[in-house]
Amino acid sequence: MVTPFEQRILEERKRMVESLDSLRRRVETWASGEKSKEILFKTLQYESTGHLDFALFPCPPVIDYGKGATLFDVDGKEYIDLHAGFTVNILGYAQEEINAAIKAQLDRVIQFAELPMESRAELARLLVERTGGDFEKKVMWAVTGGEAVEIAMKLARWYTGKPLIITHWGDYHGRTAGAMGLTSKAFMMAYSYPIPPMDTGIVKIPYPYCYRCPFGKEYPSCDLFCADQFEKMFESKETWLNNPKAGVVNVAAILIEPFQSSAGYLIPPLPYLQRMKEIAEKYDFVFISDEVQNGMGRTGKLWAIEHAGVFPDLITAAKSLANGLPLSVVIGRKEIMDSWGPGAHSSTFTGYPAACAGGVKLFEIFDRDHILEKAAEKGAYFLEGLFDLQRRHLSIGHVNGLGLYLSIELVKNRKTKEPASEATAWALRRLLEEGVICIYSGYFYNRLCFAPPLVIEKEEIDRALQILDRVLGEMEKIYETDFS
Ligand SMILES: Cc1ncc(COP(=O)(O)O)c(C=O)c1O
Repeated sequence: MVTPFEQRILEERKRMVESLDSLRRRVETWASGEKSKEILFKTLQYESTGHLDFALFPCPPVIDYGKGATLFDVDGKEYIDLHAGFTVNILGYAQEEINAAIKAQLDRVIQFAELPMESRAELARLLVERTGGDFEKKVMWAVTGGEAVEIAMKLARWYTGKPLIITHWGDYHGRTAGAMGLTSKAFMMAYSYPIPPMDTGIVKIPYPYCYRCPFGKEYPSCDLFCADQFEKMFESKETWLNNPKAGVVNVAAILIEPFQSSAGYLIPPLPYLQRMKEIAEKYDFVFISDEVQNGMGRTGKLWAIEHAGVFPDLITAAKSLANGLPLSVVIGRKEIMDSWGPGAHSSTFTGYPAACAGGVKLFEIFDRDHILEKAAEKGAYFLEGLFDLQRRHLSIGHVNGLGLYLSIELVKNRKTKEPASEATAWALRRLLEEGVICIYSGYFYNRLCFAPPLVIEKEEIDRALQILDRVLGEMEKIYETDFS
């Protein structure tokens, strides 16, 4: 029998919504000091519980200031930052040159009616000139990552005249109503009850999460079976995608996270990305790479998709564009970007001039200090450290990383790969206590993800690895019956 509304929905909501009292208890038993406590109680009193803070951490650190890749909370506790504020602070904290460029723009004009300005035009030039692909490009500005995604989605539909957008299980593209339709998270859908996210016409396909292949195959012997399955969807008229007899394709775009971030920093086989691009070309739809979290040099190249030698039709970027100020952008083929007319999209704070001034300076520093090359080098060093930990800790089932975009997956048993979700939450908590900020994520909440500012020092990586080593050791003892 189907459970009636009163019982089902109310019970589900109870499970989803933690009470204010329980959140307060977390602060009482956890916060690093009195000042942190005071601010967190104030936050709980005046801010909605819907914010991300208490979902990310057992108790969120209240950051006061930072320098490079080191953060200090309001009680003076020091942290190594392996999170970079969700990859925003790519050049670290208190970056004096960027801050000076931002202040200079603030003193001239902060913002005026989303109209063109020098810093904005210059950053547009830099992004266009540095993005690969043997075709002309242009940019369109926005404020948040989700908004850039929605622009890309609207543009692809406008340009092709087609309705469907393809995304992958596990993708995260934002939480505004349109972007949420593209995002695959069950708890987010539950928050939409009773009205689903506004965007219809979305088709979701499995992501090549090879450690847990959705098709039970192994790479490379699978020969990209998943990509073949996707292409099969175009072969008969019995999917939404295509009617081969009539020669009608209904797809506007594939929107892909080249490396899947919120789902646990997963790096797919690079040939998969090439296959997706080939399929997009064959069936004549737009290929969009969402680089909001892994772009701007994090993986050792400006865009993550470059590792696959693929040049997307559109790229969405945000977070780290201005090392901390809100700014997002769509970079793409000129013919697509110029296919719509003035005013097709607008957002009051679009292309925020002070943020653009920061972005221009950021590129100057990238070049002068060889930031991307160093990110690749430091990332390889960090990755080797993680592999070394894997040799000594049975709980680490999977390790992957490219540049300073790395993660480990914790399992109870390497053969069965049973997720060690509870132990991972415990480890995250201990890491925070020990002064390491990172996030846990993954399809089963059992991956620890590492994305430090690119200016992190090798000595800080060593220290973080030592702490991780110790915490994993403790974790394996506490959950001793588990790891084998
Ligand atoms: C890949 C990706 N796309 C889009 C977004 C949404 O960006 P925002 O939170 O700025 O709307 C995010 C945010 O984490 C993201 O990781």
